[in-house]
Amino acid sequence: MTANLHGRHYLRELDFTTAEIHHLLDLAADLKAASAAGTERRRLTGRRLALIFEKNSTRTRCAFEVAAADQGATTTYLGPDSSHIGHKESVADTARVLGRMYDGIEYRGFAQDTVTELAAHAGVPVYNGLTDECHPTQSLCDVFTMREHSRKPLEQISFCYLGDARNNTANSLMVMGSLLGMDVRIAAPRELWPDPLLVSECLLLGQDSGARFTLTDQVEDAVRGADYLYTDVWVSMGEDHDRWKERIDLLLPYQINAEIMAATGNPDTALLHCLPALHDRRTDLGAELAAEHGLEGLEVTDEVFESPASLVFTQAQNRMHTIKAILVATLGRD
Ligand code: CP
Ligand code: NVA
Repeated sequence: MTANLHGRHYLRELDFTTAEIHHLLDLAADLKAASAAGTERRRLTGRRLALIFEKNSTRTRCAFEVAAADQGATTTYLGPDSSHIGHKESVADTARVLGRMYDGIEYRGFAQDTVTELAAHAGVPVYNGLTDECHPTQSLCDVFTMREHSRKPLEQISFCYLGDARNNTANSLMVMGSLLGMDVRIAAPRELWPDPLLVSECLLLGQDSGARFTLTDQVEDAVRGADYLYTDVWVSMGEDHDRWKERIDLLLPYQINAEIMAATGNPDTALLHCLPALHDRRTDLGAELAAEHGLEGLEVTDEVFESPASLVFTQAQNRMHTIKAILVATLGRD
């Protein structure tokens, strides 16, 4: 499918049509194939990108930097402590300064309003690299990975997200799946259900796209037959560390482990996770939580994370191809 996204922002899934998302997915597939074949054509030569990160990142930053470099663009990284944004200079002023030096701006931070305000004042495309509300470059990668790994069209694919269903990753995934006509399932305790307004948007999207939408606290019903199980960290960046105990109590029944994989009844169910994942004690936080709560893995067990069903590193690699597609579609020269 083709669509013209030149000059567009990429702030949230709800700003896009189904055809536009398909266009980005097809472009990402073409770019991935060209990269593997050594035939990639540079369409961003001379373009300049500012990458603002008010929260930490491994995948998103690196995906933007490598995608830009592959396509001939240059990047400037502005980390959590290295610019004046919000401290000594307003978002609107920062946007107007960067918009005069750069052709595009990536922003990762807290409020969705901040990235919206940047976009309103920058005069160049702005890309949401994660806010508290959504993570739209992640969801593009997620459905790309599902499509690439499955023999079925997206409309026939089912996925179940288990965990904190109000966080950015869950919000993005449920909107993206609804836009694309997928079988979208969310399994979470009621305390962590998504905003009802967002659920209404998903149901509305489903009326056009044919998406099926299930929100339940019943894990076994939710995962039955699912092609993909998806989870994310139980306490997101920007949330208080003190929340860990309460989240563990609420979310342990939603941990992706061998029993839950088996409960799908589908031998081909695959694991997706945006990463980083707490699946063992080999991180400072993992070790601390293991010591305090006696858990080796949190949202996913090490056994499932390291199993053949796990697609998480392919998914991480696909961040680069899908972000490249967004950059080429919005800023590329023919
Ligand atoms: N999935 C993701 O956004 O990872 P980073 O936080 O490392 O960018
Ligand atoms: N929900 C997670 C996603 C990390 C990529 C967070 O915001 O920390």
